[in-house]
Amino acid sequence: MKIAVATETDPAEPRVAATPETVKKFIALGAEVAVARGAGAGSGIPDSEFQAAGASIGESVTKDADIVLKVRRPAPAELSAYKKGALVIAIMDPFGNEAALKQMADAGIAAFAMELMPRITRAQSMDVLSSQANLAGYRAVIDAAAEYGRALPMMMTAAGTVPAAKVFVMGVGVAGLQAIATARRLGGIVTATDVRPAVKEQVQSLGAKFIAVEDEEFKQAETAAGYAKEMSKEYQAKQAALVAEHIKKQDIVITTALIPGRPAPRLVTKEMVASMRPGSVIVDLAVERGGNVEGAKAGQVAVVGGVKIVGHANVPGRLAASSSALYAKNLLTFVETMIDRKEKKLAINWDDEIIKGTALTRDGAIIHPNFKPKSVA
Ligand code: NAI
Repeated sequence: MKIAVATETDPAEPRVAATPETVKKFIALGAEVAVARGAGAGSGIPDSEFQAAGASIGESVTKDADIVLKVRRPAPAELSAYKKGALVIAIMDPFGNEAALKQMADAGIAAFAMELMPRITRAQSMDVLSSQANLAGYRAVIDAAAEYGRALPMMMTAAGTVPAAKVFVMGVGVAGLQAIATARRLGGIVTATDVRPAVKEQVQSLGAKFIAVEDEEFKQAETAAGYAKEMSKEYQAKQAALVAEHIKKQDIVITTALIPGRPAPRLVTKEMVASMRPGSVIVDLAVERGGNVEGAKAGQVAVVGGVKIVGHANVPGRLAASSSALYAKNLLTFVETMIDRKEKKLAINWDDEIIKGTALTRDGAIIHPNFKPKSVA
């Protein structure tokens, strides 16, 4: 059983799919681990640490690997370096990328998309959306604080008082909750909004104030899976009026709102941006999914009327060492379910819901029900 840890070919991706700690665990499970030279460099892990954990270091490590661990979906050029039948596990970004899925099927690999992991109790430790969103929520506040020309906590000094910054978090899932906690730790006065009623108590328990249009539609806004629904035009108008009134008094706004399989909802209009005072900062964590904020640009800090709109791409990659450590752990716990510990070999139960939920391709075909070509599905 050979496991390869590939280098990320996208120059904007500093994360790595394994750490010395997970390499040791894979070896204890009976695997041989080969790490591509320099794979950990962007996350502060030198080859020597992987070697000390028992991995071999090489150039073309994927050639004879049974399992390839990656952060991002392999590019077509990488696929030719994989063995037929290899299990390739990564964040595959499958939505709208059917052509890339077909290329993986044609290459004969079994591709698994970690972000499709069912959100069931057993799979919590494999949930990359949570592990990465948590760190992104933290980093969003740190990025906002760095762009903000004032202090966050109230400071009473001999030279005068610095008021506490007012921080507004929009969208309180995993990232939003961590953003609230981080902004509170830094001494901000925090308010937050969401369309799911379950969030209200969580916000309050973190010491922040909950602000939302709490009408009948709000009471029904959570799906059985715990996600937000797309709200009606009427609700959106009421929400916008409430936000418009609130946002002009805020110093820092962090937006994290997403709806699975849909573009991110537009929550902050250019009029709202214009109503904020110069020097205010908005961080749009949804910028790569269409953006919550009008004027946000992926990979840029846009300045609009003196307001900074921060649109960093790949925010988990901005704290790559932490993100890699948690991502590598997510992969380890997932791969553990595919290994027969006694026999020390691969034993995949293709009927297991975590396998069925994440498997995109197998034996030359796209097998995931959400992505199968329409004529076949
Ligand atoms: P997400 O990343 O899909 O969305 C972020 C937040 O944006 C959500 O709270 C959503 O309600 C909110 N949102 C969507 N549209 C909005 C709008 N128009 N206005 C304001 N807010 C809006 O959500 P995430 O972080 O993935 O969490 C979704 C749920 O899944 C949560 O209830 C979370 O606790 C739960 N969860 C369950 C796990 C498990 O059981 N294994 C693991 C992680 C999360």
